[in-house]
Amino acid sequence: MDLKGKVAVISGSSRGIGRAIALTLASEGANVVINYYRSRDKAEEVLKEVHNKGVEGVTVEADISDYAQARHLIEEAVKAFGTIHILVHCAGIYQKKPLVDMSFEEWDRMIKIHLYGAYNLAKHAIPYMVKNEEGAIITVSSLRAVRPAAGITHYAAAKAGIIAFTKALALELAPYNIRVNSIAPGPIDTDLLRGLYGEEGVRERGKKVPLGRVGKPEEVAEAVLTLIKNDFITGAVLLVDGGSSLV
Ligand SMILES: NC(=O)c1ccc[n+]([C@@H]2O[C@H](COP(=O)([O-])OP(=O)(O)OC[C@H]3O[C@@H](n4cnc5c(N)ncnc54)[C@H](OP(=O)(O)O)[C@@H]3O)[C@@H](O)[C@H]2O)c1
Repeated sequence: MDLKGKVAVISGSSRGIGRAIALTLASEGANVVINYYRSRDKAEEVLKEVHNKGVEGVTVEADISDYAQARHLIEEAVKAFGTIHILVHCAGIYQKKPLVDMSFEEWDRMIKIHLYGAYNLAKHAIPYMVKNEEGAIITVSSLRAVRPAAGITHYAAAKAGIIAFTKALALELAPYNIRVNSIAPGPIDTDLLRGLYGEEGVRERGKKVPLGRVGKPEEVAEAVLTLIKNDFITGAVLLVDGGSSLV
């Protein structure tokens, strides 16, 4: 897919990996819909950077775990640009807690943001892609879907669910020339990782990665771009993890 003039919706693009994806797609000529939940100011900063690249953008507040708010996000995208060609579901949270200490609300929130979010967004975006006779959907999974760890049952389950969702949807949408792929990042230097380990801890975490460092959000964004551009890739899960899945 050539991104020039295309319309891309990126959930959770006020910060971190989603922000990098929005900027990378904008650099390729796509008009972008920047979704935020709590970080309005950060989303506005991303919009400024998007405009500096000579393309259009809008910011939309929406908690994508909520069906009506996710529909609103898609409706606002269509109001601004007329259609949707690319959907990236990147919004996410992380938490480490043993299952016995995990409240129902914590379990529920994790599953809702990642998995319900995937359904809520795809459900409303797909009809526009069908009409366009082309589309690209990218989900953001995690290394933890394939290499789980203790204390993240909800996160690992949600991210593994996203992979199965991606593959099933890829088969369902192939006849419409809509491709569905997933990115599975390893440790990436964002607020999420810094919140877990602190700045020094992030460097230490990097030493456990075969390539000797954590990844950059831009490196994930480049991989997303490849999956969007290549018209013969669908149902794929691309690890961007510095070799972490191998150790
Ligand atoms: N960083 C890593 O090491 C890593 C590794 C594997 C997978 N991932 C995955 O990559 C994705 C992005 O992670 P990140 O590291 O970039 O995290 P981050 O820096 O903490 O950013 C999270 C983003 O998600 C948005 N978000 C959270 N809840 C939302 C909701 N209910 N509705 C809409 N947006 C919401 C946030 O928006 P607001 O700030 O506006 O609320 C923010 O833009 C997540 O799915 C994460 O699981 C990250």
